[in-house]
Amino acid sequence: MQAKIPFLDLSRFSESIQIKLKEKFSELLEKGVFSGSEEISRLEENLQKYLDAPFLSTCSNGTDALEIALRVLNIGPGDEVIVPALSWVSTAEVVVLCGAKPVFIDTNADGLIDLSLLDQVWTPQTKAIIPVHLYGKMVDMPALIAWAKSKKIQVIEDAAQAFGAFHENISAGLFGDIGCFSFYPTKNLGALGEAGALVTKDKTIAEQIQVMINHGQEKRDHHVAIGRNARIDTLQAGFLNILLPYFENWQQHRKALAGIYLEELQSLKWLSLPEGLEKSSHNAHLFTVQCKERNQLKTFLEAQGIGTAIHYPNIIPRMKPYHVDKHFPESHRISEQVMSLPLNPFLTQEEVYRICSAIKGFNFNQDF
Ligand SMILES: Cc1ncc(COP(=O)(O)O)c(C=O)c1O
Repeated sequence: MQAKIPFLDLSRFSESIQIKLKEKFSELLEKGVFSGSEEISRLEENLQKYLDAPFLSTCSNGTDALEIALRVLNIGPGDEVIVPALSWVSTAEVVVLCGAKPVFIDTNADGLIDLSLLDQVWTPQTKAIIPVHLYGKMVDMPALIAWAKSKKIQVIEDAAQAFGAFHENISAGLFGDIGCFSFYPTKNLGALGEAGALVTKDKTIAEQIQVMINHGQEKRDHHVAIGRNARIDTLQAGFLNILLPYFENWQQHRKALAGIYLEELQSLKWLSLPEGLEKSSHNAHLFTVQCKERNQLKTFLEAQGIGTAIHYPNIIPRMKPYHVDKHFPESHRISEQVMSLPLNPFLTQEEVYRICSAIKGFNFNQDF
């Protein structure tokens, strides 16, 4: 039996990185610093520089980033927010948490909002839209922004999966009014726990975000709004400061591995491969293939010790708390056919070749 290839094994950080992370933990433990501190301002400076973001605030996680964005833009009861039918649940969850109504829109074959349907879902109550750069591939933001401007609605980018994706040197998150990132451990830049960030080009919005993240305080004990405690942990900021310098190399490795998958699997007519991975507007977060025999292929690979994942097996408007009786054919089709193959900086080229050769040996008529 060959060694297993997990979908993602976060214990595979190199020894030198593990040492640095442990040293950071010891340093903060010895200092007794667990909230605030220059660790956070340093991270914000580093992220701001990398993204070339006019304003950036770190926060507790990507879901809170989205909720804070909606609150800062005054979206609430009576408002409608357009969200894709296919996404991680947070995208719709935060709309409901703010008292507004998510209005679902179908996606294209890539799982991104189908821009040709925008006029059909818009109503006079539409206040905002949340495009999701799903799997790390950016939505056509210039087109989406032009439409949103024509309707005078706000744009919150769910860039939770898209850190490191740039369209014409502009980072995902910086096209709309506010962009939201997640540093959940499985993301391309992941903390050792929960963390997130918001970016904006607008100084007033940036100030409101800061206030909202920290109990509505403008400064200590000066509460000017009803806010949240959505601050990042000092430890997570410290860990992210260690990991960020490795990010570019990891990205190159991801893209090289994605290139092997594309090359090796292109001849399989029954398997559809993701597009645009080689471009800067895709950060190669996930390598998602699509095929009708998805469940059998998953079981087949599992039997050979190869881990895969499904993003996502259910579309949001079919989930009980969000249920709507409308059909979203493309999102639904993707949820039934999509499967993510391992793609992460800890994976070796040999492992990717082994995965490809296993897929090539898949026989649909086999009984599982
Ligand atoms: C598309 C999308 N939106 C939002 C989130 C929420 O981020 P977090 O898990 O940091 O709350 C995630 C990550 O899980 C995501 O993938």
